Amino acid sequence: MKKPFIISFANSKGGVGKTTSCIAVGCCLAKLGYETLVIDLDHQGNLSDDFGRGDEDYTITDIFEDPKFDINKIVYSARDGDKEISNLSIIPADITLAVEARSAERFRHRLSILDDGLKRLVTHFDFILIDLRPAIDLSIENALLITDLIVIPVDMDRRAVKGIDDLFQVVKEIRRNDDFVYTLVKTKVNKSHSKMQKSTNKHIQEAGYQVASTEIRVSELYKQATEQRRPSPLYAPHERPYEDYLSLTHELLAKIKEAPR
Ligand SMILES: Nc1ncnc2c1ncn2[C@@H]1O[C@H](COP(=O)(O)OP(=O)(O)O)[C@@H](O)[C@H]1O
Ligand SMILES: [Mg+2]
Repeated sequence: MKKPFIISFANSKGGVGKTTSCIAVGCCLAKLGYETLVIDLDHQGNLSDDFGRGDEDYTITDIFEDPKFDINKIVYSARDGDKEISNLSIIPADITLAVEARSAERFRHRLSILDDGLKRLVTHFDFILIDLRPAIDLSIENALLITDLIVIPVDMDRRAVKGIDDLFQVVKEIRRNDDFVYTLVKTKVNKSHSKMQKSTNKHIQEAGYQVASTEIRVSELYKQATEQRRPSPLYAPHERPYEDYLSLTHELLAKIKEAPR
C-alpha cells in the first residue's frame, strides 16, 4: 500500500488562514477523488468544529496519552452540518490536547507517537493534512518530523512573514537536515489594501521564499462560514476563494510530483 502524502499547514502567527486552508485543500482533494484524512493538532479544535466534530469521546489526545491506543477509533467521517463529506475523514482535537502533549514527554518514543499511530491506520489514505497550532509542542514536533510538504499561509500582514525563519529553524532542528519542501500561500488577498501588501510582498521577495502562484482572495462569506462552524468551501462554493483553493490544490499536486519522499 502506498504511503499517504503528508501536508502540514503551519505559521507561528494565528489568524492567517491555516485552518481555513487545511479545510479547503482537504475538501478540494476529496472532491477530486483522493481519500483524504485531516488531523486537528490545535487544542482550540477549530478544524474539528467546522467539520462537525467538536464533541467526540475520543480525540487525538488519546494517542498522546497512550501511544498503544487504536488510532482507528479516532478516525471519523468529516461532516458539513449533519451531512457526511465523501472521501474525507478527520481525527479531531479538543482542549485536552494541550495538557496531554506535555505529559507525553515521558515516553521514550515520544517523537514518533503520531508516525507509529498513522502506520496502524487500516483505511488507506492518499493524503493526510495536518492543521498545526501556532506554538511548537511535542505534538507539532511529531507532525513536522513526518511532513512531506509544509504549506505556510501568510495573510498580508508583515507579522505573518516574520516568524517563518524561526519555523524553518525548528523544522531543521527536528528533522536534523535542511531538506524539506514548503510553499508560502498568500491568503485573504484584497487588492484595495495595496500598501500593506506591497511591503509584505517586498519582504517575501527579499527573503527569497518560495511562494505559490495562486493567491487566495478575501471573501466575507468565508468569515461567515467560520462563524457558522461550516467548512467554508461547502458553505460558499461560488465564492472566489473556492476557485483559488481548487487552483492551489492543482498547484500543490504538481509540486508533490517533484517532492522527495
Ligand atoms: N479568504 C478568506 N476571506 C475571508 N476571511 C478569511 C479567509 N480565510 C480565512 N478567513 C478568516 O480569517 C480568520 C482566521 O482564519 P483561520 O483559518 O482560523 O486562521 P488560523 O488557523 O491561521 O488561526 C477566520 O475567521 C476565517 O474565517
Ligand atoms: Mg487555526
